[in-house]
Order: sequence, then C-alpha cells, then structure tokens
Amino acid sequence: MTGLTQHTARRLEAALTAHPESTTTLASMTSLSNRTISTTPTTPTPSADAGAATTARPDAGIRPLRSFQLKPLSMTVNGRKIGPVEVPAGLPMIDFLHEYLDLTGSRLGCGQGICHACVVILDHADGTSDEIRTCITGAHFFDGKRVRTIEAHATRNAAGEVVEMSPIQQKFLAHFSFQCGYCTPGFVNAATVLIERLKREPVASAEIESTILDALNDHICRCTGYVRYYEAVKDVILTTPGLVRDAA
Ligand code: FES
Ligand code: FES
Repeated sequence: MTGLTQHTARRLEAALTAHPESTTTLASMTSLSNRTISTTPTTPTPSADAGAATTARPDAGIRPLRSFQLKPLSMTVNGRKIGPVEVPAGLPMIDFLHEYLDLTGSRLGCGQGICHACVVILDHADGTSDEIRTCITGAHFFDGKRVRTIEAHATRNAAGEVVEMSPIQQKFLAHFSFQCGYCTPGFVNAATVLIERLKREPVASAEIESTILDALNDHICRCTGYVRYYEAVKDVILTTPGLVRDAA
C-alpha cells in the first residue's frame, strides 16, 4: 500500500467539489485508512495563526479537499476479493487502483475520457465484458463487480513473477506494436475484450479488419503505432482456432 500522492489529492479535491455536504475530514481519513497524506496542515501554528488574523478569507474553512464522505467499497479485482474498504466518495477508479491496490499498470493519459489508456475490463455475470475508462468512472461504480486490469493477463508463478505473457501480449511484442508503451495496457484490454467476444461470436473473414477497427478505434496512441497494433490483433484472430466462422 502507498500513501495518497499530492497528484491524487489534487484530483480528489476536484472530484469532491461535487460533495460540499460531506463532513469527514482529511485527517480522519488518514487515520481510518492508515496511510500518510501529505498536504497543507489543517491546524495553523501559533505564529501563523497570529499572522492569519488579518489575512484569513471568510471561506477558508470549507475547502473541499478538507471535507468529504467515506463510503464502503468491495469488488473483485483480478480474481482477488477486495474490501470492504472505506473510500472517499468520488474517488476515480484509476486512483483507487494506483493508491489502494498498488496496481499501477492502468495508465492515466488525458484524464478526460478521450484516450482510453486507462481502461479496465468489467466482467458481467453472463460472460460478456466491457472496457470502462477509469479516469472518469468513480471507484464506487465498481462496487460488487468483477474487474480485470492489465496485471491480470500474463501468467504468474507463486512469487507473482510473470512466467508467460498472454497470446495478445506476445503478438504485440512480435509485431513491435508499441514504442513508449504508455497506451499499451489499454490496447491489450481492448484486444482481449475483442478476442473473447469472437470466441463467443466468430467473425466472417470479410469483416475482420472492420471488426478490429471498431474495437480499437477509440484508443489513442501518441506514438502513432496504430498499424502494428492492428496487424498484431489480426494475427491473433487468424492464428486462434474458432474466431473466424468461414476460415479456410
Ligand atoms: S486517461 Fe482515461 S480516457 Fe484518457
Ligand atoms: S506507444 Fe507511445 S503512446 Fe502508444
């Protein structure tokens, strides 16, 4: 476990602007969650207090970073049951993954729901799954749900070390699909959702390329590696039995 970073504290402050009625203090959350939060002291020192007598603003006591509501949260992440844990209402899912679970593979890119670098896989009870953007989705949306992150794809040994990558990860490497790799977790998750869907609903060979385009089109790669991502996913489709219904 790590402490909340200043970056997360700023994101939390923005998210909590919508919860001015909340009453729990930042200090009490630090106590409840047993973590260190580095932020401006809420109690002024005597000398600072004396100076503040003439400079304090009328609204100084209602800054949203200093008051918010905690709510219990439980979910299953990568097959592991999490919680219940007390989590600030409005905390984005990506910050919950990074700060509470130490799962830092999901990437914060735009932070505005555009680039899809931050997606995780949400598994439904009927066996289907969706990509969900964690930068614009609160952690509590996932309460009681099952989630997979990029850390779930490779096979690991008892020590947690990767011993074998998934077929999609292997094809991405074989095709040199990524450069800096920042967008790669999102592409791996998107491709995984697609391949799992094709196992249930095989695609016609004439529709392979348009199907890949539909599946990956929302993902932005700032290194512009799209062609090799698409080629790698096509390779997975053509070399995995049962994904193309009219395969020769
Ligand atoms: S970081 Fe979530 S969509 Fe860009
Ligand atoms: S490989 Fe760099 S952003 Fe896609």
